[in-house]
Amino acid sequence: MCGIVGYVGTQQAAPLLIEGLSRLEHRGYDSAGVAVLGQTAGLKVAKLAGRVRDLDDSLPKRFSGRAGIGHTRWATHGPANDVNAHPHIDGKGQVAVVHNGIIDNAAALRTRLTDDGVDLASDTDTEVLAHLVARSEEDTLEGKVVDALSVIEGTYGLAVMHADFPDRIVVARNGSPLIIGVGDKEMHVASDLAALVRYTTTVAHLDDGELATITASGFTTFRPDGTATQRAATLLDIDVSEYDAGEHESYMHKEMLEQPAAAERVLRGRLDERFGTGHLGGLNMDARETRAIRRVKILGCGSAYYVGQMGASLLEELARIPADAEAASEFRYRNPIIEPDTLYVAVSQSGETLDTLLAVQEIRRKGGRVIGLVNVVGSAIAREVDGGIYLHSGPEVAVASTKALTNMFIGFALLALQLGRVRDLSIADGKRLIAGLTRLPGQIEEVLAAEQDLAAIARDLADAESLFFVGRVRGFPVAREGAQKFKEISYRHAEAYQTSELKHGPLALISPEVPTVAIVPDDELADRNIGALHEIAARGGPLVVVTHAGVDLGGVPCRRIDVPRNERELDPILLTIPLQVLAYHAALTLGHDIDKPRNLAKSVTVE
Ligand code: F6R
Repeated sequence: MCGIVGYVGTQQAAPLLIEGLSRLEHRGYDSAGVAVLGQTAGLKVAKLAGRVRDLDDSLPKRFSGRAGIGHTRWATHGPANDVNAHPHIDGKGQVAVVHNGIIDNAAALRTRLTDDGVDLASDTDTEVLAHLVARSEEDTLEGKVVDALSVIEGTYGLAVMHADFPDRIVVARNGSPLIIGVGDKEMHVASDLAALVRYTTTVAHLDDGELATITASGFTTFRPDGTATQRAATLLDIDVSEYDAGEHESYMHKEMLEQPAAAERVLRGRLDERFGTGHLGGLNMDARETRAIRRVKILGCGSAYYVGQMGASLLEELARIPADAEAASEFRYRNPIIEPDTLYVAVSQSGETLDTLLAVQEIRRKGGRVIGLVNVVGSAIAREVDGGIYLHSGPEVAVASTKALTNMFIGFALLALQLGRVRDLSIADGKRLIAGLTRLPGQIEEVLAAEQDLAAIARDLADAESLFFVGRVRGFPVAREGAQKFKEISYRHAEAYQTSELKHGPLALISPEVPTVAIVPDDELADRNIGALHEIAARGGPLVVVTHAGVDLGGVPCRRIDVPRNERELDPILLTIPLQVLAYHAALTLGHDIDKPRNLAKSVTVE
């Protein structure tokens, strides 16, 4: 959702801002804008509802300035139109503001400004900031921004420019990320590393409650009371090419194929073969504290919630601790009971999902212990938790999560192993699981090698308006994730059901027009699952069955996808990989923009 970029330096700002914004497109947006400021030419703003390339095409020839800010907006207050797009300016066109987050008391502030005779041009919460900065009587831009923020309630990452201070941008963070990028006689700012890495990998992350002044020669950070925070920039150890789709037609394709390497990374240094356990130093819990856990509650949204359900099974099976997963977006609203001997686990690729972050804050406020399974290092959730497991998937750009999701599953397996081995999981079982985890990256590669066969099946599924994904017990979260991936990028109605529940209702919908993708691993439920396949086939329902080689499907007519065998507990992730490929190729067949599915954002930073 919403993205911010900024630049101060020796080059023209506009092309750099446009390039930066195009790197944020994957986050999801409906309008975009830029403002530039020259030493003498004053402030110029261009913005519109539409794509970044439309904005680029619309820029006037003389749109010069060596300082600038830019924004991609995801509408919250007011519809997506040109006026509501950021940057927002004050009445005299002196101040420009871009803002991520939500100002909770915007309505009251708008009324107060209107009563004072201020004309508000837009429906947004952000516009009040531009007017408040312009009306402040402080002498410095820093003072004016602090003054404006003192009456703001809510969350923000923001960047402000003022025509009287053309050498600088002032930025502030409270709940919405802001990163400063240090260049050579130039400085950048962005809400996401993806917009910076082309220019610099020397960065400083602002903390909540911190502000910074950015000029061409450097940056200074401070608190609202003016005290300096002396934040230093650090050189990131990242592979910049990971932020490019390279040869691939989409980021999702690239990221699916990166899964074997990503899986190796999340396992690296975390397997203790001698004791058959996991080695997760970041949990910040000793063996006694680990043993004291009586229950595990997993919280995440969307795919992170579904993989949380897979994680709950792993924890119950391996560690024999009661565990369940819940949508973080619902959790906070039922006044949850927080227990001291429950371990809460927040799962998030971005580490920014507001629903998950708020759930974490609610648990910690009530004294609960939370650990994170998070991909983005230094993200809001990663900073908020008591400990955790970084996923090391590398940057995930496509909206549809693939490699992060796989590493979430592996993270849960490591957690279950570690919790299990301080309880009743035997060393032999621990070693069996470690051997299984070690085999996973190669087996994921094997599944992906069958891409063209899966593509042929996907092309047929793409014809259906509506599909079922069914599975039981370990296979049910797999079905849920398969349906999720399919619907979000193919826009087909895909519904997940427990196979056992079909006869209690949805069987009425089975027909030759409604295919079913069934998850049938070689486990203790295989015979029952196969019985259900016959019921579907008897009603003319086309079937795709994801199973293991050697499972006798009893002659049921179907398209069959065999995945490699591993330890049963680890089946879910190998059963999930082909479903990603099916969704991907169905969307490709239908000609959709796979990396930017309609109405969806990569990081959902609103409730
Ligand atoms: C699905 C998908 C979303 C995310 C969800 C949580 O492919 O990507 O459902 O899983 O929005 O996002 P994170 O993991 O960033 O908290």
